[in-house]
Amino acid sequence: MAGNKVSVLFVCLGNICRSPSAEAVFRHKALELGLDIEIDSAGTAGYHKGAAPDKRSQAVGQDRGYSFKGLKCRKVHENDFEKFDFILGMDNKNIASLLEDCPEEYQHKISLFLSHCGSDEEEVPDPYYGGKRGFEYVLDLIEEASIGLVKKIQTK
Ligand code: 4NP
Repeated sequence: MAGNKVSVLFVCLGNICRSPSAEAVFRHKALELGLDIEIDSAGTAGYHKGAAPDKRSQAVGQDRGYSFKGLKCRKVHENDFEKFDFILGMDNKNIASLLEDCPEEYQHKISLFLSHCGSDEEEVPDPYYGGKRGFEYVLDLIEEASIGLVKKIQTK
C-alpha cells in the first residue's frame, strides 16, 4: 500500500489502449465517489515507451468525458509488485506475463480486471488492430468494471 492509500495498477500489453483508458475511467469514478486512490497503468511490453495513449482510445474516452491528460506509456517495473495493492490485467496473456515476473509473495495482488464486476466477459479484448466499435466496446467493459472495483474498494 502507498501509505494509507489503496493503490491500483492497470496492465495491458502496450499501455496505449486498454490500461490508460482504465486509468482514466477509474480515476473519474473514484473522484466521483470522493475516494483518494493511487492509480497508474503500465504495459507488459515496452514498444511504445513515453507515448501518449492511442488517439482512438482518447477519442472514444473523451467523448464520454474522461481525461487522458499527462498519461504516458511505461513498462511494468519490478517495484510495481510491491507497491500496488491491486494489479489488474486486461486479458489472460497479461496475467501470465505478470505472474512470470512477479515474486510469489505478491502474486495474490494480480487478477483480471473484469473479475471485479459481474461482466459476462472474462477479458477486455485488444482493440489495437480493429475499428472504432472495438474501442467503444473496450470502454463499455472498462466502465462496468471500474464501477464494480471502485465500490469494492469503497466498502473495504
Ligand atoms: P493495448 O493495445 O495492450 O491495449 O495497449 C495494444 C497496443 C499496441 C500493440 C498491441 C496492443 N502493439 O502491438 O503495438
